[in-house]
Amino acid sequence: MTSALKVRTPNFDFREVPVHWATNIELVQMINATNLVPAYIEPFLIKVTRRAKALLDPHADAELIEDLDVFNKQEAQHFKVHAAFNRRMREAGYDGMAEIEAAFEAEYDQMLTQRSLRFLLAYCEGFEAAGGVATESWVNGDFDRHLGPTASEPGEMWRWHLAEEYEHRTVIHRLYHRLYGQPKVIAWPYRLYGFFFSLRHFGGHVDRMTRYLLSVDHASLDAPARAEAAARMKAVRRQMRLSMQMTRKALNVLSPGYDPARLPKPRDYEAVLARYS
Ligand SMILES: [Fe+2]
Ligand SMILES: [Fe+2]
Repeated sequence: MTSALKVRTPNFDFREVPVHWATNIELVQMINATNLVPAYIEPFLIKVTRRAKALLDPHADAELIEDLDVFNKQEAQHFKVHAAFNRRMREAGYDGMAEIEAAFEAEYDQMLTQRSLRFLLAYCEGFEAAGGVATESWVNGDFDRHLGPTASEPGEMWRWHLAEEYEHRTVIHRLYHRLYGQPKVIAWPYRLYGFFFSLRHFGGHVDRMTRYLLSVDHASLDAPARAEAAARMKAVRRQMRLSMQMTRKALNVLSPGYDPARLPKPRDYEAVLARYS
Protein backbone atom coordinates (compact mmCIF):
# COMPACT_ATOMS: atom_id res chain seq x y z
CA MET A 1 0.00 0.00 0.00
CA THR A 2 1.31 3.46 -0.81
CA SER A 3 -0.10 6.85 0.10
CA ALA A 4 -1.98 8.77 -2.60
CA LEU A 5 -0.23 11.93 -1.36
CA LYS A 6 2.93 13.14 -3.09
CA VAL A 7 5.97 15.07 -1.95
CA ARG A 8 6.99 17.85 -4.36
CA THR A 9 10.08 20.03 -4.13
CA PRO A 10 9.55 23.32 -5.96
CA ASN A 11 12.47 25.66 -6.62
CA PHE A 12 11.24 29.04 -5.53
CA ASP A 13 13.92 31.70 -5.57
CA PHE A 14 12.94 34.85 -3.70
CA ARG A 15 16.30 36.65 -3.87
CA GLU A 16 15.12 39.07 -6.57
CA VAL A 17 11.47 39.23 -5.50
CA PRO A 18 10.51 42.73 -4.37
CA VAL A 19 8.94 42.94 -0.91
CA HIS A 20 6.03 44.83 -2.48
CA TRP A 21 5.39 42.22 -5.17
CA ALA A 22 1.97 43.62 -6.11
CA THR A 23 0.48 47.10 -6.18
CA ASN A 24 -1.88 46.82 -3.19
CA ILE A 25 0.88 47.26 -0.61
CA GLU A 26 -1.30 46.89 2.47
CA LEU A 27 -2.74 43.59 1.22
CA VAL A 28 0.69 42.39 0.11
CA GLN A 29 2.14 43.05 3.55
CA MET A 30 -0.76 41.27 5.21
CA ILE A 31 0.04 38.25 3.03
CA ASN A 32 3.77 38.65 3.67
CA ALA A 33 3.03 38.73 7.42
CA THR A 34 1.12 35.45 7.06
CA ASN A 35 4.36 33.71 6.02
CA LEU A 36 5.15 33.78 9.71
CA VAL A 37 2.53 31.10 10.35
CA PRO A 38 3.68 28.14 8.20
CA ALA A 39 7.34 28.81 9.02
CA TYR A 40 6.70 27.99 12.69
CA ILE A 41 3.41 26.11 12.90
CA GLU A 42 4.42 23.45 10.39
CA PRO A 43 7.53 22.26 12.28
CA PHE A 44 5.19 22.11 15.30
CA LEU A 45 2.67 20.01 13.31
CA ILE A 46 5.44 17.56 12.50
CA LYS A 47 6.45 17.24 16.17
CA VAL A 48 2.84 16.74 17.28
CA THR A 49 2.07 14.12 14.64
CA ARG A 50 5.23 12.18 15.47
CA ARG A 51 4.09 12.01 19.07
CA ALA A 52 0.59 10.87 18.00
CA LYS A 53 1.98 8.30 15.59
CA ALA A 54 3.54 6.42 18.49
CA LEU A 55 0.01 5.69 19.75
CA LEU A 56 -1.19 4.17 16.48
CA ASP A 57 -1.33 0.49 15.63
CA PRO A 58 1.21 -0.27 12.87
CA HIS A 59 -1.18 -2.79 11.28
CA ALA A 60 -4.70 -1.49 11.86
CA ASP A 61 -3.60 2.12 11.18
CA ALA A 62 -1.14 1.39 8.37
CA GLU A 63 -2.93 3.62 5.85
CA LEU A 64 -3.10 6.59 8.22
CA ILE A 65 0.56 6.12 9.15
CA GLU A 66 1.63 6.18 5.50
CA ASP A 67 -0.40 9.33 4.86
CA LEU A 68 1.09 10.91 7.99
CA ASP A 69 4.61 10.24 6.76
CA VAL A 70 3.94 12.00 3.44
CA PHE A 71 1.98 14.74 5.23
CA ASN A 72 5.07 15.49 7.34
CA LYS A 73 7.31 15.58 4.27
CA GLN A 74 4.92 18.00 2.54
CA GLU A 75 4.77 20.25 5.63
CA ALA A 76 8.58 20.18 5.83
CA GLN A 77 8.75 21.52 2.26
CA HIS A 78 6.15 24.16 3.08
CA PHE A 79 7.91 25.55 6.14
CA LYS A 80 11.30 25.64 4.40
CA VAL A 81 9.90 27.69 1.50
CA HIS A 82 8.04 30.13 3.77
CA ALA A 83 11.11 30.47 6.01
CA ALA A 84 13.16 31.35 2.89
CA PHE A 85 10.65 34.09 2.09
CA ASN A 86 10.87 35.42 5.67
CA ARG A 87 14.67 35.48 5.36
CA ARG A 88 14.34 37.53 2.17
CA MET A 89 12.10 39.99 4.03
CA ARG A 90 14.49 40.34 6.98
CA GLU A 91 17.40 40.94 4.62
CA ALA A 92 15.37 43.53 2.73
CA GLY A 93 15.28 45.73 5.85
CA TYR A 94 12.56 44.23 8.03
CA ASP A 95 14.98 42.88 10.64
CA GLY A 96 12.48 43.53 13.44
CA MET A 97 10.64 40.43 12.20
CA ALA A 98 13.14 38.26 14.05
CA GLU A 99 11.79 39.27 17.46
CA ILE A 100 8.18 38.48 16.49
CA GLU A 101 9.25 35.17 14.96
CA ALA A 102 11.18 34.18 18.09
CA ALA A 103 8.19 34.92 20.35
CA PHE A 104 5.88 32.86 18.12
CA GLU A 105 8.30 29.93 18.04
CA ALA A 106 8.75 30.05 21.83
CA GLU A 107 4.98 29.74 22.32
CA TYR A 108 4.92 26.53 20.28
CA ASP A 109 7.82 25.15 22.31
CA GLN A 110 5.86 25.96 25.45
CA MET A 111 2.68 24.30 24.13
CA LEU A 112 4.65 21.15 23.33
CA THR A 113 5.85 20.85 26.90
CA GLN A 114 2.72 22.02 28.73
CA ARG A 115 -0.36 20.92 26.78
CA SER A 116 -1.99 17.51 26.29
CA LEU A 117 -1.71 15.61 23.03
CA ARG A 118 -5.46 15.95 22.64
CA PHE A 119 -5.15 19.74 22.80
CA LEU A 120 -2.17 19.77 20.43
CA LEU A 121 -4.05 17.68 17.86
CA ALA A 122 -7.19 19.82 18.18
CA TYR A 123 -5.01 22.89 17.62
CA CYS A 124 -3.36 21.28 14.55
CA GLU A 125 -6.73 20.20 13.17
CA GLY A 126 -8.00 23.78 13.71
CA PHE A 127 -5.06 25.10 11.70
CA GLU A 128 -5.56 22.59 8.90
CA ALA A 129 -9.29 23.44 8.78
CA ALA A 130 -8.43 27.17 8.63
CA GLY A 131 -6.14 26.42 5.68
CA GLY A 132 -9.09 24.73 4.01
CA VAL A 133 -11.13 27.94 4.38
CA ALA A 134 -8.56 29.89 2.31
CA THR A 135 -7.66 27.15 -0.17
CA GLU A 136 -10.14 27.77 -2.96
CA SER A 137 -9.48 31.53 -3.10
CA TRP A 138 -5.74 30.94 -3.48
CA VAL A 139 -5.70 27.91 -5.74
CA ASN A 140 -8.17 29.46 -8.18
CA GLY A 141 -6.34 32.79 -8.17
CA ASP A 142 -9.30 34.78 -6.73
CA PHE A 143 -6.93 36.71 -4.45
CA ASP A 144 -5.20 38.12 -7.52
CA ARG A 145 -8.24 40.30 -8.23
CA HIS A 146 -7.45 42.27 -5.08
CA LEU A 147 -3.70 42.36 -5.59
CA GLY A 148 -3.31 44.30 -8.80
CA PRO A 149 -0.45 43.61 -11.25
CA THR A 150 1.82 41.13 -9.57
CA ALA A 151 5.23 39.52 -9.75
CA SER A 152 3.69 36.21 -8.95
CA GLU A 153 6.43 34.16 -7.25
CA PRO A 154 4.99 34.67 -3.72
CA GLY A 155 1.43 34.21 -5.00
CA GLU A 156 2.51 31.02 -6.73
CA MET A 157 4.14 29.82 -3.50
CA TRP A 158 0.76 30.12 -1.74
CA ARG A 159 -1.07 28.43 -4.63
CA TRP A 160 1.29 25.44 -4.51
CA HIS A 161 1.13 25.28 -0.71
CA LEU A 162 -2.65 25.45 -0.49
CA ALA A 163 -3.13 22.95 -3.31
CA GLU A 164 -1.12 20.49 -1.19
CA GLU A 165 -3.13 21.52 1.87
CA TYR A 166 -6.19 20.41 -0.11
CA GLU A 167 -4.46 17.17 -1.05
CA HIS A 168 -3.66 16.27 2.60
CA ARG A 169 -6.74 17.91 4.15
CA THR A 170 -8.08 14.74 5.82
CA VAL A 171 -4.91 13.56 7.56
CA ILE A 172 -5.05 15.46 10.88
CA HIS A 173 -8.82 15.20 11.00
CA ARG A 174 -8.53 11.41 10.75
CA LEU A 175 -5.72 11.34 13.32
CA TYR A 176 -7.64 13.48 15.83
CA HIS A 177 -10.74 11.30 15.48
CA ARG A 178 -8.75 8.08 15.58
CA LEU A 179 -7.26 9.04 18.96
CA TYR A 180 -9.86 11.36 20.50
CA GLY A 181 -13.04 10.87 18.42
CA GLN A 182 -15.03 9.26 21.25
CA PRO A 183 -17.31 10.23 22.82
CA LYS A 184 -18.55 12.44 19.98
CA VAL A 185 -20.30 14.77 22.38
CA ILE A 186 -16.84 15.80 23.66
CA ALA A 187 -14.79 15.35 20.45
CA TRP A 188 -16.87 17.87 18.51
CA PRO A 189 -16.80 20.86 20.94
CA TYR A 190 -13.16 20.14 21.72
CA ARG A 191 -12.33 20.24 18.00
CA LEU A 192 -14.09 23.65 17.84
CA TYR A 193 -12.08 24.79 20.85
CA GLY A 194 -8.90 23.85 18.94
CA PHE A 195 -10.15 25.68 15.84
CA PHE A 196 -10.94 28.94 17.64
CA PHE A 197 -7.85 28.74 19.84
CA SER A 198 -5.57 28.30 16.82
CA LEU A 199 -7.28 31.07 14.81
CA ARG A 200 -6.92 33.47 17.71
CA HIS A 201 -3.35 32.42 18.43
CA PHE A 202 -1.76 32.60 14.99
CA GLY A 203 -4.12 35.41 13.90
CA GLY A 204 -2.82 37.58 16.76
CA HIS A 205 0.76 37.03 15.68
CA VAL A 206 -0.07 37.77 12.02
CA ASP A 207 -1.70 41.04 13.13
CA ARG A 208 1.39 41.98 15.08
CA MET A 209 3.63 41.16 12.12
CA THR A 210 1.39 43.11 9.69
CA ARG A 211 1.51 46.15 11.95
CA TYR A 212 5.30 45.90 12.15
CA LEU A 213 5.82 45.56 8.36
CA LEU A 214 3.52 48.47 7.64
CA SER A 215 5.11 50.60 10.37
CA VAL A 216 8.38 50.29 8.43
CA ASP A 217 6.65 51.09 5.11
CA HIS A 218 4.72 54.01 6.52
CA ALA A 219 7.54 55.53 8.59
CA SER A 220 8.57 57.94 5.84
CA LEU A 221 5.02 59.02 4.91
CA ASP A 222 3.65 62.44 5.82
CA ALA A 223 0.38 62.69 7.78
CA PRO A 224 -2.05 62.77 4.79
CA ALA A 225 -0.31 59.84 3.07
CA ARG A 226 -0.41 57.92 6.35
CA ALA A 227 -4.15 58.54 6.66
CA GLU A 228 -4.64 57.24 3.11
CA ALA A 229 -2.62 54.14 3.94
CA ALA A 230 -4.73 53.54 7.06
CA ALA A 231 -7.90 53.82 4.95
CA ARG A 232 -6.52 51.29 2.44
CA MET A 233 -5.70 48.94 5.32
CA LYS A 234 -9.25 49.23 6.62
CA ALA A 235 -10.61 48.44 3.15
CA VAL A 236 -8.37 45.36 2.91
CA ARG A 237 -9.62 44.08 6.27
CA ARG A 238 -13.24 44.69 5.21
CA GLN A 239 -12.71 42.80 1.93
CA MET A 240 -11.24 39.87 3.85
CA ARG A 241 -14.11 39.76 6.33
CA LEU A 242 -16.80 40.05 3.69
CA SER A 243 -15.67 37.16 1.55
CA MET A 244 -18.91 35.16 1.59
CA GLN A 245 -17.22 32.11 0.15
CA MET A 246 -14.78 32.02 3.07
CA THR A 247 -17.53 32.68 5.62
CA ARG A 248 -19.53 29.73 4.31
CA LYS A 249 -16.48 27.50 4.51
CA ALA A 250 -15.72 28.60 8.08
CA LEU A 251 -19.32 27.83 9.13
CA ASN A 252 -18.96 24.38 7.57
CA VAL A 253 -15.96 23.70 9.84
CA LEU A 254 -18.19 24.32 12.88
CA SER A 255 -20.70 21.63 11.94
CA PRO A 256 -20.55 18.41 14.02
CA GLY A 257 -20.52 16.47 10.73
CA TYR A 258 -17.64 18.50 9.22
CA ASP A 259 -15.50 16.21 7.11
CA PRO A 260 -12.69 17.74 5.02
CA ALA A 261 -12.89 14.71 2.69
CA ARG A 262 -16.11 16.22 1.33
CA LEU A 263 -14.68 19.67 0.54
CA PRO A 264 -15.11 20.39 -3.17
CA LYS A 265 -11.96 20.26 -5.26
CA PRO A 266 -10.79 23.77 -6.27
CA ARG A 267 -11.21 24.31 -10.01
CA ASP A 268 -7.47 24.77 -10.69
CA TYR A 269 -6.22 22.19 -8.17
CA GLU A 270 -4.85 19.70 -10.70
CA ALA A 271 -3.41 22.41 -12.95
CA VAL A 272 -1.47 23.96 -10.05
CA LEU A 273 -0.02 20.65 -8.82
CA ALA A 274 0.85 19.57 -12.37
CA ARG A 275 3.38 22.42 -12.43
CA TYR A 276 5.33 20.64 -9.65
CA SER A 277 4.94 16.98 -10.54
FE1 LIG B 1 1.42 23.29 4.89
FE1 LIG C 1 -1.22 21.11 6.18
